[in-house]
Amino acid sequence: MKAAMIRQPCFRSCVHLRNALEVHEKSTACTFQKGRQKCYSTQTENKITTVEKKKPKRRMKAWYIYQYGGNEELTLSEEAKIPEITSPKDLLIEIQAASVNPIDVVMRGGYGRNLINKMRTWLGRGSGSEFPLTLGRDFSGIVRQTGHLVTRYKPGDEVWGALAGQRQGTHAQFCIAGENEISKKPSSLSHIEAASLPYVATTTWAALITMGHMRENSFHDKRVLIHGGSGGIGTFAVQLIKAWGGEVVATCSTDAVALVKHIGADHVIDYRTEDVLSRLGDIGKLDLILDPVGGEAQEATMKFLRPYHNYVTLVFPLLPNADKHGFLAGMAKSAVDLNFGITKGISKGLTSYRWAFFIPNGEALKKVAVLVDSGKIQPVIDKVFKLDELPLAYEKVEQKHGRGKTVIDMRA
Ligand SMILES: NC(=O)c1ccc[n+]([C@@H]2O[C@H](COP(=O)([O-])OP(=O)(O)OC[C@H]3O[C@@H](n4cnc5c(N)ncnc54)[C@H](OP(=O)(O)O)[C@@H]3O)[C@@H](O)[C@H]2O)c1
Repeated sequence: MKAAMIRQPCFRSCVHLRNALEVHEKSTACTFQKGRQKCYSTQTENKITTVEKKKPKRRMKAWYIYQYGGNEELTLSEEAKIPEITSPKDLLIEIQAASVNPIDVVMRGGYGRNLINKMRTWLGRGSGSEFPLTLGRDFSGIVRQTGHLVTRYKPGDEVWGALAGQRQGTHAQFCIAGENEISKKPSSLSHIEAASLPYVATTTWAALITMGHMRENSFHDKRVLIHGGSGGIGTFAVQLIKAWGGEVVATCSTDAVALVKHIGADHVIDYRTEDVLSRLGDIGKLDLILDPVGGEAQEATMKFLRPYHNYVTLVFPLLPNADKHGFLAGMAKSAVDLNFGITKGISKGLTSYRWAFFIPNGEALKKVAVLVDSGKIQPVIDKVFKLDELPLAYEKVEQKHGRGKTVIDMRA
């Protein structure tokens, strides 16, 4: 028999309640009262239950840096202020897990500060100091509040996303995200698994589609070389191109050969023990090269591209130039560097040389979520750290030999 529910405020507060709603048996002794929380008694036929409605949290744990430097600059605040929505298209997200990317490690040292701070000012996200700064670009979490122009999400939705560089980051228990930076998370993944993908997925998407000028359905007769097939970008890119029907050639070091084969690469070249160029000569001409490693050895593979096809590199000096030479001089120097790369591409067989970079892209994440839920892309997780262990995660990523992704569990 269903019991009639009578809700009546009793203004008690019990210190042992932790969740937003918790039910107490009649016999439960409630200690109160600080006057901060309202407590409701709900009377049923055979028992009294007490349902407490907690005020929204105002404080959170967040990792901050107060100046640029090494890992010693990372400071955990237990009483950080939860960010507030200031734009009608933004959402407040309670982060369940976030990943650590090489960009976080280099931003900790000041990488990109000139360009990122300029963008922060242009976009009206603060013109003063960027400190205290929270690093971290991607997350999986739960929507807690929405701005009044947000139409696609509501509180309680499970979402994933990757945030623009000028926003405060995700190495905290809450963040503000724009509606266009997120999508619903794949329902088949846990938050830990989901958090491993958004930044590498949107960067790879930008490299292949936006800057690589490919279309999602145009890979079926294409052969793509991916340098660094064992890292965060590599393990995602191999699976994405296979999901789109392409043929994948990937380089990696010896211990990662089995992993890279397992995620679907058709040809795996162990760059430590094999002659990469002679293996590529045997495999045949390439339609695209994705290079998240950078360097002369990688650029030497350009000559295996078909004429007028793209060499897309994720490693280029735009941000460091702005840091070193100032904004305007840095932009001018970057234009010269890009021209140098383009000329090099032309001289190595009329190939097109392009820089690619992360662009927030909720629509791409939505499409990736479909591929994940259909089993075509699986997260590859190297190690999971607790929130309090974040500096250890940075140390690991700094070594640049990831086997998939490093993830932070915000709830642990
Ligand atoms: N432009 C952008 O917006 C953007 C965005 C994301 C990433 N990136 C760039 O992409 C890089 C990789 O990101 P990630 O997340 O994949 O990092 P990661 O998880 O640390 O992976 C780095 C990978 O590079 C491989 N590697 C290193 N030297 C290599 C070589 N000579 N040949 C082949 N593979 C080599 C490593 O494999 P082994 O251990 O087998 O050597 C490792 O798997 C970042 O460092 C960053 O420079 C740029």
